[in-house]
Amino acid sequence: KTQNHQNHELVPHKGFKLISGTHDPDDVDQIYNLEIRDSDVFVVTYPKSGTIWMQQILLLLESKGDVSAIRQVNNYSNGDLIPWIELNGNRQAFITAPSPRLRVTHLQYQFMPSALSHKGKVIYVARNPKDVLVSYFYFHKVANMLETPKDFNDFFEKFLQGDVFGCSWFDHVKTWHAHKDDMNMLFITYEEMIQDLQSAVERIALFLGKELTDEQLANVVKYSTFNNMRKIPQANYEQVPGDLLSHQQGKFMRKGTVGDWKNHFTVAQNERFDEVFNKEMEDFPLSFLWDV
Ligand code: A3P
Repeated sequence: KTQNHQNHELVPHKGFKLISGTHDPDDVDQIYNLEIRDSDVFVVTYPKSGTIWMQQILLLLESKGDVSAIRQVNNYSNGDLIPWIELNGNRQAFITAPSPRLRVTHLQYQFMPSALSHKGKVIYVARNPKDVLVSYFYFHKVANMLETPKDFNDFFEKFLQGDVFGCSWFDHVKTWHAHKDDMNMLFITYEEMIQDLQSAVERIALFLGKELTDEQLANVVKYSTFNNMRKIPQANYEQVPGDLLSHQQGKFMRKGTVGDWKNHFTVAQNERFDEVFNKEMEDFPLSFLWDV
């Protein structure tokens, strides 16, 4: 199977949307039947919510804070270390991969291996959706498998309607959170990581049963800050070929802040967003941090 990155058509599939040429619906369906080991870890995110950040932290926890181990990896997602489970060919490789099998996914809950209900671990990273929208807008300009938006307002509406890869942010977060207790899941937010990275790393280490010395943990924290990650080519997806990412359009590690939406939303857009958010998230038990 070949990937065609100029083809960015969204294909509806069982209540979700896949990217034509990047995902194979039959392959995605078979993820559900994968056997799971106790040591498997799935990082689940809606796009632009801190996936690469969690990948960096997990890699550093594996290497006990040794950043040179990470610098040898070709790229985080398609290399051997933390691949996307839904990308063509990766499901097959997962079956025979050595432990620990660390994987990332943007898929909705219904596609995940059913065996995760009694084995393995899931880390769900959520980010306030206004910043997700802005980050995703810029990423659509960089990523050739996603259609370049006409303008910000056009993308704003597409995002609210869930007419993007990942579908509705609201559904993604609500569904995964509703199944929190059906599996061994750590639910953590981007904003918690921004506010206190040390505590977040400690929580993640504890959840994964990783025992590191204070010095090792300090290195995990040090090399997963935005400024240090920005200097690492892998974290910027710099090795990803130009047919996949138009690097001249911007860096993958773009801004890394809470509240950038304030620089982009008009007052009217913000009111419209709040209206949708309040309706969609009415019964959601957690609140989001919109600014720091
Ligand atoms: P911005 O576009 O707002 O800068 P994902 O990996 O899920 O695609 O998410 C990418 C977003 O996470 C980008 O957001 C990126 O800058 C941000 N990010 C990645 N690593 C980060 C870090 N160490 N600290 C803060 N933000 C980080």
